[in-house]
Amino acid sequence: LALLPEDFIVPEIYYTEDRAKQYEKNSRIQKIQKEMTYRALELIKISPPALILDIGCGTGISMQVLKTEGYEVKGVDIAEPMLMIARAKGLDVLRADFTVEIPFEPGFFDCIISISTLQWIFHGFKPSEIYEKIRRTTKEIKRVLKADGKAIFQFYPKNDKQLDLAGRIFKNEDFKVVKIIDNPNIPKRRKVYLLCRKTI
Ligand SMILES: C[S@@+](CC[C@H](N)C(=O)[O-])C[C@H]1O[C@@H](n2cnc3c(N)ncnc32)[C@H](O)[C@@H]1O
Repeated sequence: LALLPEDFIVPEIYYTEDRAKQYEKNSRIQKIQKEMTYRALELIKISPPALILDIGCGTGISMQVLKTEGYEVKGVDIAEPMLMIARAKGLDVLRADFTVEIPFEPGFFDCIISISTLQWIFHGFKPSEIYEKIRRTTKEIKRVLKADGKAIFQFYPKNDKQLDLAGRIFKNEDFKVVKIIDNPNIPKRRKVYLLCRKTI
């Protein structure tokens, strides 16, 4: 298996100013991120106007789709160079490490969308460290979501074990979890979504 950035580096170092600019101007990335955002909206089934948090908003590609569709949207990301591009588009973003704290009041958001980000959570040296990071993240997500709020994550788990682990930790935090896998047998087009509904 090829090494991916999340295997050897933390996002706040990986996403330099140059990488952020390359990311933003890559038309293939733009197209795929937009398609996956529309698919996430289709799966989450929340009508506008709703207040959405984009976790790992990057340069704001998904946020632009959400705004166009009539949602109110805020974003958090750890990488300042990515956020600079999002801010230049007039998007409402702030810098935060979602594995530590999502800096909003309890029950603030109707739903959460996160596209191509959650795989970064598996970066770490010890399984206990990774487990703890996912657990803290799910607790923060639960805290900032309204009662009955939903969260959807499109991400790239390296294997079924990572996908199962993420699903299991959300379940432990009393989320109802559904896994959706699009194009399961076409490696390049295989997309994994985790749909999580807060139950208490
Ligand atoms: C591939 S980009 C996704 C960009 C965005 N969803 C879009 O619409 O194009 C992944 C983003 O996740 C962010 N990220 C990774 N780990 C994070 C963390 N712990 N806290 C906040 N942001 C994180 C990275 O900085 C990066 O901008």
